[in-house]
Amino acid sequence: MTKHSIMLLPGDGIGPEIMAEVRRVMAWVEGAHGVSFDVSDGLIGGCAYEEYGVPLTDETLTQAKASDAIVMGCVGGPQWDGKTDYDKRPEAGLLRLRKDLDLFANLRPAMCFDALADASSLKREYVAGLDILFVRELAGGVYFGEPRGIQELPGGGRVGINTQRYTDAEIVRIARVAFEMARKRGGRVHSAEKANVMEAGLLWREEVTKLHAEEYSDVTLEHILADNCAMQLVKAPKQFDVILTDNLFGDILSDAAAMLTGSLGMLPSASLGDGGPGLYEPVHGSAPDIAGLGVANPIAAVLSFAMALRYSLDMGDAADQIEACIAKVLEQGYRTADLMSEGMKQVGTIGMGDAILAALNS
Ligand code: IPM
Ligand code: MG
Repeated sequence: MTKHSIMLLPGDGIGPEIMAEVRRVMAWVEGAHGVSFDVSDGLIGGCAYEEYGVPLTDETLTQAKASDAIVMGCVGGPQWDGKTDYDKRPEAGLLRLRKDLDLFANLRPAMCFDALADASSLKREYVAGLDILFVRELAGGVYFGEPRGIQELPGGGRVGINTQRYTDAEIVRIARVAFEMARKRGGRVHSAEKANVMEAGLLWREEVTKLHAEEYSDVTLEHILADNCAMQLVKAPKQFDVILTDNLFGDILSDAAAMLTGSLGMLPSASLGDGGPGLYEPVHGSAPDIAGLGVANPIAAVLSFAMALRYSLDMGDAADQIEACIAKVLEQGYRTADLMSEGMKQVGTIGMGDAILAALNS
């Protein structure tokens, strides 16, 4: 029997609740596809800080590196918001995981399930059939650039510093992912930066243009300023196929796009490097306001696991099945609170898990 090792990192807030539903789906895949998952659990984020004094221990990192795929929940919460020590914050655990495994390619599909076209804050005609893939650079840019920090100024006062920094090699490797993805989809890439004000953006534009001309001229490339991209996303989102962008713009633009799909609770992501395990996590945060209430939407987490099946475990057929079942439960009218509208059947986290399992078993 094929054995896959999976590292589960539920994290903070709603992480453990949504991950419990992922476990049930994992068990279904084991039974239905004759594989076995060797699962190890670890702590990341605020819960790891409480237990070990750091948001990610070396041991957890080593174990994660040795696994076939890492499936994560989410990190952060108000109890750690006051932390000024950035490397102790919950988010630092996640950033360390991304950086250490050199997971530079973050794939964030924003798809609007037909049954949810009315749950979006935009009118149905703008979002029905929406299918965008964000390719976000994840291991560089202002998230990691040096110098950084908060310093006292000699004459009094303080200065906060972060550095946007991209090498040509970093730009080329992420652009290559976007072009390759576009070839398998609609054949179009929009590359978003701020070349009008930032040198790092100008270099981004030049390198993407060069790679496109040399190797990917069959793909349609358009450059778009990131602010305009934000506007176009809410004006005419269906014009986009693949959006290639940097770490910070990708963070912001993908949250905006999430709302087009009905809820932030719907968006999965995959973070991939050059070989080694991928990291799979929902785009949403830890939602501390609803943590422990059993109302969180587990769909983004389940869809993230489906991406793990597709990209790390070579089980694309199981991923297709899970995605189809989620479409089905939405058609059947099951809705968590974030998606609820009149006439639909409201369920909690476990209830949504039950509906997904029932669809998988039918
Ligand atoms: C995301 C999140 C993270 C990010 C945080 C939790 C560090 O917002 O994955 O979009 O900013 O990348
Ligand atoms: Mg984000």
